[in-house]
Amino acid sequence: MAERRHPAERVPPGAPLAEMRDRAADCRACDLWEHATQTVFGAGAAHALVMLVGEQPGDQEDLAGKPFVGPAGRVLEEALVAAGLDPARVYLTNAVKHFKWIPRGRPWLGLELAKVRPRVIVCLGTTAARAVLGRPAVIGKLRGQPLATENGTVFVTSHPSAILRAPDAASRERGRAQLVADLAQAAKAAATKA
Ligand code: URA
Repeated sequence: MAERRHPAERVPPGAPLAEMRDRAADCRACDLWEHATQTVFGAGAAHALVMLVGEQPGDQEDLAGKPFVGPAGRVLEEALVAAGLDPARVYLTNAVKHFKWIPRGRPWLGLELAKVRPRVIVCLGTTAARAVLGRPAVIGKLRGQPLATENGTVFVTSHPSAILRAPDAASRERGRAQLVADLAQAAKAAATKA
């Protein structure tokens, strides 16, 4: 009988991130791969204290094979630096690993969380929050509140693309400032937790 388990469930316990990435590259568990150039697995420090989870790769990420390399990534990188977080020391990933979002593919995220074991997880937007928390999330209600979960302390903030889509310069500036404040709170929690 054909193997029905998701390929993420077939990764041997203790496998390194590089093996997960290799296996995810061939993932055909849903038809998203057909429309994408490649799988965009997470990237960054293997034992990062802070993991940031986005929604799905955009077109530039699809071509580069790396998360957050496009315009939203630039907003995020500036906000990380302004919040005192070194972009080279975080782990960046997405709820879904292929370009063209439909809500599947989260088993890979579960493996990344279990392997990196960050102290703090920052969910960028509602889709990431839903994937990490396993329930619908309203950013306005959850932002600023550390949520204790079995995977680490979770913070919920806006997606950088939402900041880019804001209608005018003043709202974009407010969005950036809020993102920096949320990331600074996450950085503090990552630095102070036992
Ligand atoms: N938006 C996301 O959610 N993830 C990326 O990697 C890029 C843009």
